[in-house]
Amino acid sequence: MKGVILAGGLGTRLFPLTKITNKHLLPVYDRPMIYYPIEAMVKAGITDIMIVTGGRKSGDFLSLLGNGKDFGLKHLNYTYQEGEGGIAEALGLAEHWAAGSPVCVILGDNIIEKNIAKAAADFRKQGKGAKILLKEVPDPERFGVATVQNGKVSRIVEKPKNPQSNLAVIGIYMYDGRVWDIIKTLKPSDRGELEITDVNNWYIQDGSMTFEVLDGWWTDAGTFQSLHSAASLVAAGGANKG
Ligand code: DAU
Repeated sequence: MKGVILAGGLGTRLFPLTKITNKHLLPVYDRPMIYYPIEAMVKAGITDIMIVTGGRKSGDFLSLLGNGKDFGLKHLNYTYQEGEGGIAEALGLAEHWAAGSPVCVILGDNIIEKNIAKAAADFRKQGKGAKILLKEVPDPERFGVATVQNGKVSRIVEKPKNPQSNLAVIGIYMYDGRVWDIIKTLKPSDRGELEITDVNNWYIQDGSMTFEVLDGWWTDAGTFQSLHSAASLVAAGGANKG
């Protein structure tokens, strides 16, 4: 399985911190934000990785990460997203490189306490379809929210005003090689983006979506509050453990 880390977008929720740089280069405690998803991939046994950058200072990723030596990697791949057409659009830019292979996707601003090696191994065994990870949160309206019925995810709603559960879909997704064609069928949402939630709902309709509830804490780092709390959580005990 290959890995794609999405680090495009303009990070407008963090202005003025992101006025002159890319959100994923900002510090989270003792490391740049982008270090956490790379480490999460490597600990899950995924070493063939592409980083989708974009926005401001995208060249700085190369200066910072090079070929990934800090993570024990021999090579890193990069591509560039113009504008911010959404998470699914950013993922679509990796199609030529993935060449039909299954992929694990991690949003560049998502940080987790415990590694996802088991979920990745489970998906390798699953072989077909998709897998998402869910986490109970106090503020589900900020996220994609899953409804679980009879042990299966029956639907995901993106940032619902009246969430039907407190189960957020975290920014770690695993897809089979059909994902590239699914992305091509998507239409922009009301916020003008190609939504990853639409990709996930496609797999739910197909009956091939599985889920696991994440063990340990999870946070994004895309708002002042979550960036602050991500730093505190990492400082208190580290990330990607186990
Ligand atoms: O954090 C998990 C949530 O991430 C999910 O629960 C939601 O379903 C999903 O839509 C997403 O929600 P956000 O609105 O918080 O995503 P955001 O726009 O902050 O983008 C998250 C990351 O995705 C960002 O750090 C970089 C990458 N991205 C995003 C966009 C819009 C790109 O690479 N390109 C883009 O165009």
